[in-house]
Amino acid sequence: MLRGKNIIIGICGGIAAYKTPQLVRLLKKEGANVKVVLTEGGARFVSELALATVSQEPVYRAIFPSSGTTDFTHHISLGEWADALLIAPATANSLGRLAAGLCDDMLAACFLTLRPGKPVLIFPAMDGQMYLSASVQRNIATLAGQGCTIIPPESGELASGQCGLGRMPEPEAILSHLQQSLRSEERHSPLHGRSVLVTAGPTREKIDGVRFISNYSSGKMGFAIARAAAKRGALVTLITGPVHLETPPGVTRIDVESAADMHAAAEEVFSSCNVFIAAAAVADYRPRAPYEGKIKKEDAEMQLALVRNPDILAEFSKQRSPKQLAVGFALETREGVECARQKLEAKQLDLIAFNYFDGKNSGFEVDTNILTLIDRHGETLELPKLTKDEAAEQLLDAIERLTPVNAGNA
Ligand code: PMT
Repeated sequence: MLRGKNIIIGICGGIAAYKTPQLVRLLKKEGANVKVVLTEGGARFVSELALATVSQEPVYRAIFPSSGTTDFTHHISLGEWADALLIAPATANSLGRLAAGLCDDMLAACFLTLRPGKPVLIFPAMDGQMYLSASVQRNIATLAGQGCTIIPPESGELASGQCGLGRMPEPEAILSHLQQSLRSEERHSPLHGRSVLVTAGPTREKIDGVRFISNYSSGKMGFAIARAAAKRGALVTLITGPVHLETPPGVTRIDVESAADMHAAAEEVFSSCNVFIAAAAVADYRPRAPYEGKIKKEDAEMQLALVRNPDILAEFSKQRSPKQLAVGFALETREGVECARQKLEAKQLDLIAFNYFDGKNSGFEVDTNILTLIDRHGETLELPKLTKDEAAEQLLDAIERLTPVNAGNA
């Protein structure tokens, strides 16, 4: 897939830059032509000589030609040459400059002169708090809205000695993201570069310090949707209740416990998402006054007063802009399609998946599901028993049919 492809690697000033000579070697081994653009910050972390040696090309740094050169337009020709631009690691500073459209170094020039439709893969790597800051997230959303694929950092040991979000993926993972992106370039999805917010799993509503109300959701359906959307090039945020599942590659995960936590996390992300898919089994009620310690067993009976939780999907669906899509699930045992239709109307959704619950082949915990998809125009698609991964692909196909190809930011 990479044989003969022209790839630019932009390297910014982060400690993860030390991994980039290995990345260049992997790309060369796959047969790609690789040119390296090194920012001033990047040059502090990795040697120009090492990169020139492994790429067998001069390393590009200055936007202005050096004296004696006859090539006065290399700041334009380099971007035009590329079949794909990888930026790894991308710092908060570079994200800000690219999002703002500045052209003050060679990397920014390549970014601006890349031919339309060529993939740009950005691998932010920095301190976790910095990554989650409102400014960095806004710049990421801007770049994603322009069609860039943003691969969120991974969690693990950081240069600061702390453990957390911020690590650049290993070179092998970066290579596989690039291969995936070049593949999906051939089959361009309307979700590519769009922000997709998915809720998954159960919520836990505290009764006291040691007990809670919850349900059997495993998170499998929501995680399958997040995985499938990331594979289509979407920028996916997954808000999940307590589950035992690995984060799908390329997905930003936010762990929550209660419906109120899920609501608060969704509130942070919702305004910048293009598609909101609510697959979580959110508890409808929570104990009115959770007890601080452990409730003692004293009487033969006890009463637990419950109050309604916010309906996350209904609330955000009703306040969405015309460029945002809202997709829900309806888990029902009987008269399901009709109940699902009523939920579609009541919550003002674009699409709903009626999830037939039989406890064996479909619903909570199992690896398969039986869905009927109903869209806002009344189109109904009854799906057979599928794996949750296959069901997720069908759901995303239905969402793509409702997504205007040229939809801009939310
Ligand atoms: O996690 P798994 O084990 O794989 O199981 C998958 C699933 C069965 C949980 C999933 O496919 C599913 O059907 N999720 C929705 C289950 C549900 O509780 O539906 P509901 O009819 O209560 O809610 C309707 C919709 O509103 C859902 O999209 C739900 O996420 C959303 N909702 C509900 C209540 C609430 N307070 N906030 C919400 O956002």
